Formats: sequence, C-alpha cells, structure tokens
Amino acid sequence: MYTEPAWFEREMETMFRPAWHFAGLASSIRNPGDFLTLRLLDEPLLVVRGDDQQVRVFRNSCRHRGSLIIDEQAGTCRGLRCPYHSWTYSLEGVLKHAPGLGDYSREELSGLGKDLLLVPCGVREGLIFVHLGDLANSPTLDAYLGNYISTVAAPHQTAQMIAVNQREYVLDSNWKLYVEVDMETLHTKHIHRGSIGEQPVTVPVSEGNWIGVYHESEHTPALYPSQQGSGFPHTSGLTGAAAKGAHFSILLPGFFLVTAQDVMWWIHKIPDSATRTRVRVGYSFPASTIERPDFDEVSKRYYQRLDQVIEEDDWITEHQQRGLNRSAPGSYLPEEHVVHRLDNWILDRVLGA
Ligand code: FES
Ligand SMILES: [Fe+2]
Repeated sequence: MYTEPAWFEREMETMFRPAWHFAGLASSIRNPGDFLTLRLLDEPLLVVRGDDQQVRVFRNSCRHRGSLIIDEQAGTCRGLRCPYHSWTYSLEGVLKHAPGLGDYSREELSGLGKDLLLVPCGVREGLIFVHLGDLANSPTLDAYLGNYISTVAAPHQTAQMIAVNQREYVLDSNWKLYVEVDMETLHTKHIHRGSIGEQPVTVPVSEGNWIGVYHESEHTPALYPSQQGSGFPHTSGLTGAAAKGAHFSILLPGFFLVTAQDVMWWIHKIPDSATRTRVRVGYSFPASTIERPDFDEVSKRYYQRLDQVIEEDDWITEHQQRGLNRSAPGSYLPEEHVVHRLDNWILDRVLGA
C-alpha cells in the first residue's frame, strides 16, 4: 500500500480523481485580478478572482500550444497573458488577443473555442475547493464535505482567516503515512516530547468525506506549553465546541486542517508518486489579529512551535517509509483507532467495499 505504483494508480482513480481538493483561501484573492497557482494531481491550476468578483479555477495551460501561463505562486494582474506568443485572456478566461491569427475580430476569436479551460470549483466558508475528475460521476461539493462545514468550518470562522505564511516542499514518503500520523496521539509524547506533550482527543461525528479529532482545552495547541498565556485572543464569533478547543481534521484524502481558537493551519499532502509527497503548509489568522501592533513579535512564537512539530512529523514519516517491510503486516493499538478508520476508508475505495 505504501510503495507499489499499481496501488498508487488505484488510489488516484478511486479517491483522488473523484475528490474535491483544497486549493487555497478566498481571502488570498480578495480583489479582481488577484490570483494564486498550484499543482494538483499533476495538473497546473490557476485560481483567479474575476472582474465580476467570482472565483474561477482554470487549467494554467495556454490554449495555443499549452505553455504554462502564470508561473508566480500568487499575485495580481489585469489579464492573463501567455509569455510564449502572448495570447491574452480576460480574468474570466476569455481569449481576447491572439497575435499571429491575423485580423480576427473579438467575436471571431470567441468563436474559436480557445478560451481557458474551466475547472469545477466552489467556495465554502472561505475555503476554495476544486474538482479534477469526472464530475458527472462524483459527489457534489456539499455532499462530499458532508457535515464538515456546519460542524467545524463555520463554528471556527474559517472565512475570517487570512494566510500569512505558506510553503511547499517534497518528502520521500507515501502520502498516507502523513495523514496517519495526523490522526493519532500515540506518537505525540515520543515524537513531539519537547513541543506538544500529551494531547487527549475525542472523535466528533463526521458525515461525508472527512475524519477528525477534537482536543478540548482553554489553551491553544499552537504554542509551546511554557508559552501559554502569551498568545493572541480568540477569533471573534466562535460557537459551540469551536470556542472551547481545536479540531484536527482530514478532508479526505489528503487535506489536514487544524482549526483552533486563535489560529488555523493546514498541511496538505499531495501525492506525486507512491513514495513522494508534496506538502503544502499554510498558517492563517483573523484580520483583527494580523492588525495588532504586536503581531510580528507574537506570531513568531506560533511559527516556531508549528514549524517544530511539522518538522518532527516530516522526519518520522520519511523515517517510517525507509523501514516499511513489504512481507510482514504492522498493527494498530487502541489509541490508533482513528488511523484504523482512516485506512478502512481507503481500503473501501481502493479495493471496493
Ligand atoms: S503557447 Fe501560449 S501563446 Fe503560444
Ligand atoms: Fe505529529
């Protein structure tokens, strides 16, 4: 399951293609012309806010001869111009100018069927999701997310969050090892001895394609135990369980999102192959926190603690991959029951229920 290319291909076909994937925060493209780019399932994508305020996702691929259109990870533009031969598209993806095509009028250009290719997308509580498979044979976005938005995202005010720190890198490990480590607390007192310590959790009822754990505590999970009390105030408007603790959720297959009282962060696992995983990490806070005069100083404490725990998990997943034995199965302990559930979800899809 963790090394074979044939198994990996089945995962792509049965889980990743039919899934809805996180692409970014709507707050990162607040104004018309704001864009962000990413690569998902080997597809280059371009997420843009149009002049009509709509968020759209396009294949970041020119309709002339397929060049990447935009290379920057994020920015602002007035239109979308391919650098190769300068075909130019509007923010809505309409081909506006095609040098070399002679004196075609705008109307004739639009009749060529060479507008940018749209990718199905949707925004829920500030989270942008995209779909890269056969939509006709996949669940709708709302069916896919089930009760995640009403149970976790909305009570945690995810729509208020603004990304302040993002990075992407590659690990030599199977993507599942990293979602598994996110869903068990057995390792925290070993791997995160100096950074988290013990973190008891309960399991919220999840409907749809997510699995999570909930840690009830008045303390934020995003600061070292010794620095509790020196963090930011709670996000305004938290309700229910969101006001009293943090949810650690996997939006299946690979998007890990932590919604705490004062911060939201994600560790998105994007498989490149059976043994290589691209990891996109993002930290976000509400605007009222980012505007504080002490933001730069206090946020450093969050980054230090979050970076350390992520580095510890990065390390153990690569370390685990190197030791996997193909001929002898492992085992789950009672504290790993969420991992067991997660792996059964995967087996049901790859092998069929
Ligand atoms: S490939 Fe984009 S303009 Fe030619
Ligand atoms: Fe961990």
